[in-house]
Amino acid sequence: VNIFHRESKCKIRVGTSPDFPPFEYIDDKGNIVGIDIDMMKILSNKIGCDMEIVSIDFNGLIPALINNQIDVIASGMTITEERAKVVAFTKPYWSADQAIVIRKDANINPQSLNDLVNLRVGVQSGTTAEQMISEFVSSTGKNINMVSYQSYVLAIQDLLAGRLDAVVVDSPVANMFVKQYNVKISNIITTNESYGLAVRKDNTELLNKLNKALDEFLNSDEWQQILRKYLG
Ligand code: ARG
Repeated sequence: VNIFHRESKCKIRVGTSPDFPPFEYIDDKGNIVGIDIDMMKILSNKIGCDMEIVSIDFNGLIPALINNQIDVIASGMTITEERAKVVAFTKPYWSADQAIVIRKDANINPQSLNDLVNLRVGVQSGTTAEQMISEFVSSTGKNINMVSYQSYVLAIQDLLAGRLDAVVVDSPVANMFVKQYNVKISNIITTNESYGLAVRKDNTELLNKLNKALDEFLNSDEWQQILRKYLG
């Protein structure tokens, strides 16, 4: 008989779309890394659980959470009223706006959504950027040739290849793309977004634990170290 039998440790399945540096991306060794990943490691540890990262395209994250394939979304996800109808968000841990990203050698200089009219503009499917452009188009009756990608990395590649004129993406991520690729930011559209972690609506136990752990974590040196590690 196994006298060393003990209860197995709980495991938190964390869903993320790793195309969004510095929050989640794939490093040179092929590992999923980033601020959200390091943060979730520490939060899981504080809660007393192991964690497992599950890579899912951004527009599949909420369905995966609802279908019980994951327990937490940690993916630079903006807290919105619409999403809060179907998932529960923790307190915010980050704020962001939207950036218009163009090629460094571009001969356009779009400053607003209106300046994107009739241009080819890439976004990631299911994001607040996609929603903002769709709303602009339907409320003004103007045309933007929006292309929705499964991943922001693919959108940037199409921008570099000349298949897009601009990409609209969260400002902190745009700053990283500027460091990594031959692109620049032509302007920021102020949207005042806040990122939160999301759990199933009925999982109040995990929500409360995460909020408590977040409170501690956001005031800790560990958090400052993670920010230095990914933002320099
Ligand atoms: N903040 C935006 C949103 O909630 C974009 C998030 C995209 N995240 C990602 N990991 N690709 O819609």
